[in-house]
Amino acid sequence: MEKVNKILNFNLIVFERKFNHLLDNNNRILKYVLKHIIKSKGKKIRPMFVFLAAKIAGEINESTYRTASMIELLHTATLLHDDVVDDAMQRRSFFSINAIWKNKIAVLVGDFLLAKGLLLSIENEDFELLKITSNAVKEMSEGELLQIEKARKLDITEAIYFEIIRSKTASLLASACAAGAYSSSLNKELAEKFRLFGETIGIAFQIKDDLLDFGHNNTGKPSGGDIKEKKMTLPLIYTLQVVPPEIRRSIIYIIKNQNTDKSKVDKVMRFVKEYSGLDYAEKIMIEYKNKALDLLFTFPQSEARDAMDELVNFTIYRKK
Ligand code: IPE
Ligand code: IPE
Ligand code: MG
Ligand code: MG
Repeated sequence: MEKVNKILNFNLIVFERKFNHLLDNNNRILKYVLKHIIKSKGKKIRPMFVFLAAKIAGEINESTYRTASMIELLHTATLLHDDVVDDAMQRRSFFSINAIWKNKIAVLVGDFLLAKGLLLSIENEDFELLKITSNAVKEMSEGELLQIEKARKLDITEAIYFEIIRSKTASLLASACAAGAYSSSLNKELAEKFRLFGETIGIAFQIKDDLLDFGHNNTGKPSGGDIKEKKMTLPLIYTLQVVPPEIRRSIIYIIKNQNTDKSKVDKVMRFVKEYSGLDYAEKIMIEYKNKALDLLFTFPQSEARDAMDELVNFTIYRKK
């Protein structure tokens, strides 16, 4: 991401230092777990959205850095919890926290990170930031719970899928953009425009994540994990609508009863490919990406807007 790196290079270096500093702790267990988190760093895509939104709306300042840290803390907390919920053993090409230290510690360290994020805004009286992000925290839990309900009943529809990904994923990207823009402009109306932009690209982001789960990927997360967890995502939901009834029945049977059998899961993945489930999801993802760009292009052209354009495209063309 040439443009993003050029414009944010300095900010991202300073951010990394500040963020890692927040993870300094002398508690014995926390020390080791947080060290692991720092070592296995992610893409930091949310801080990039925060900084670019702030730059389009005004000048990056100290509260922008706190916004980026807070959002990344919340994101990290949800990943720890999500891997417990999904029983996932791999994250960012390393063993997940729950794989190494078990669920109890993963849940508690997730809580610690969440509290750390909330305190960061309270200590600095960033109340608007606190309001924007608390809403995302609530929505993320609701989204994950709705997803669990649908995985149990296997009665998900496309509309419910969009409701799930809007709340579990897009809400945080929406907050990142809204709070980023607010940090540099103190303008709520502008923040609302950015919220909608972030939500739109956030939906595309999760569709991409769900597509990557179908690939022979190099994402640092195992593929096929969603079907194993009975999570029906857009490519599969579409496929179930278009396959002949007997194939539909056999797919549902596998998801219900043979979801941990790798060769059966592979069979479902083959049906999804054969019946254009991936193409369909990709088409919808691109529609959301274009909608996000339309919203972005309502702002005047600038170096920051061009970089945001690049980040939007990275969101859906990324390989991990
Ligand atoms: C993963 O997010 C969680 C989802 C919402 C799909 P990222 O792909 O941004 O994770 P990292 O931080 O780069 O590992
Ligand atoms: C994202 O969904 C959940 C979060 C909001 C953290 P996934 O469960 O698909 O995310 P990954 O694939 O584990 O990162
Ligand atoms: Mg997961
Ligand atoms: Mg996933």
